[in-house]
Amino acid sequence: MTTTTLPVLIGSSAAARALDGDITAAARSDAKVLITGESGVGKEIAARLIHTRGARRTHPLFAMNCAGLPDSLLESELFGHVRGSFTGAYRDKPGMLQAADEGTLFMDEVGEMSLRMQAALLRFLETGEVQRVGADAVSAPVNVRIICATNRNLRERIASGEFREDLYYRLNVIHVHIPPLRERREDIRELLQAYLRHYAARHQTMLPQVSQEALDLLMAYDWPGNVRELKNVIERLIVRATQGEVTIDDLPVEIRCVMPPINAMSAGADAPPAPGSAEIEARRLFNAMVRDGASFWTTVYEPFHTHDLTRETLRLIVTYGLEQVRGRYSALTELFNMDRGDYKRFLNVLRKHECLVPFHAFRSAPSSTVSRETAAPADTTRENWVL
Ligand SMILES: Nc1ncnc2c1ncn2[C@@H]1O[C@H](COP(=O)(O)OP(=O)(O)O)[C@@H](O)[C@H]1O
Ligand SMILES: [Mg+2]
Repeated sequence: MTTTTLPVLIGSSAAARALDGDITAAARSDAKVLITGESGVGKEIAARLIHTRGARRTHPLFAMNCAGLPDSLLESELFGHVRGSFTGAYRDKPGMLQAADEGTLFMDEVGEMSLRMQAALLRFLETGEVQRVGADAVSAPVNVRIICATNRNLRERIASGEFREDLYYRLNVIHVHIPPLRERREDIRELLQAYLRHYAARHQTMLPQVSQEALDLLMAYDWPGNVRELKNVIERLIVRATQGEVTIDDLPVEIRCVMPPINAMSAGADAPPAPGSAEIEARRLFNAMVRDGASFWTTVYEPFHTHDLTRETLRLIVTYGLEQVRGRYSALTELFNMDRGDYKRFLNVLRKHECLVPFHAFRSAPSSTVSRETAAPADTTRENWVL
């Protein structure tokens, strides 16, 4: 697999510039590289850049994914096979290692390889010799630069016996780590602009304006799927943009309901919320429901019922929810993934445990400006509730 267009790395955050420097340094050497980072952060693009900036650039770059293939297929992909070695092997076929001779082989998701395949790869790395599946002899040594990537924590996999330590040290000569997008938020704006232009051109539509409110939400979102997710969201926005402007209502629900990042949440407070605090816990559970689709009953009510979750945390969750739906209790059932018919039961639970948070403060305020202080202990006067 080769590409004709050169990959471009977008972003000028400190982390993006450091990554660019790491890539250039790795390209100057011929050593094996291990690229780590969450899914969608740009591991493959980094691997391509290391190849295209390096001395092997005039030779091929092949990419293969080690996940999801049974050993027999992976082995034949990597080492090739000889005719008749298995059903369907009608002719001799070189593997990726031979095809990429003098060039680079990018092995994605290397953390998913079985121990058997890890042993085979290690053997190759030690000898440089390739033995095709079904062949009696080894072929002449090949000269391939190996770049691997994984979103796994390989140290943990070594500890649990799922990854060979000796292979880890072989592959990890140069380590390039790419931080998640939420840790380099400065890059979001640039990526956004670049992809808006890119997809507007591709779909031959006008470049839309992004409203300030929508931009704020896009910048505050955690992007669990990193750049890949951002790219997909932007393409959908471009395809659906009608009025030449992207507003909050055009954003996917998980972004519209974004919780501000923890730093922003505590802005003005004396100290950031401590790990394990009610605020952190509430935010985690809120995201589990609003972003990941978990139900209030299993995610919040059950642990609350068994006293694993405090009243304060429950009140905070209700507060965050009310902020998103501007104080409409009735809209919380949908936001928290309950059945519509659960509305009464939901209110009863909150009332019984004094967790009905006053909704007034959320009524007219734009969703992001309501102070967290409104998560004060429940006011018990009945007039304050929407029922
Ligand atoms: N810094 C970046 N600049 C431009 N595009 C990027 C950047 N990082 C990631 N991408 C794009 O995001 C998508 C996911 O990147 P990829 O390298 O496949 O991620 P990973 O291999 O880590 O899952 C690709 O389309 C890639 O081109
Ligand atoms: Mg990838």
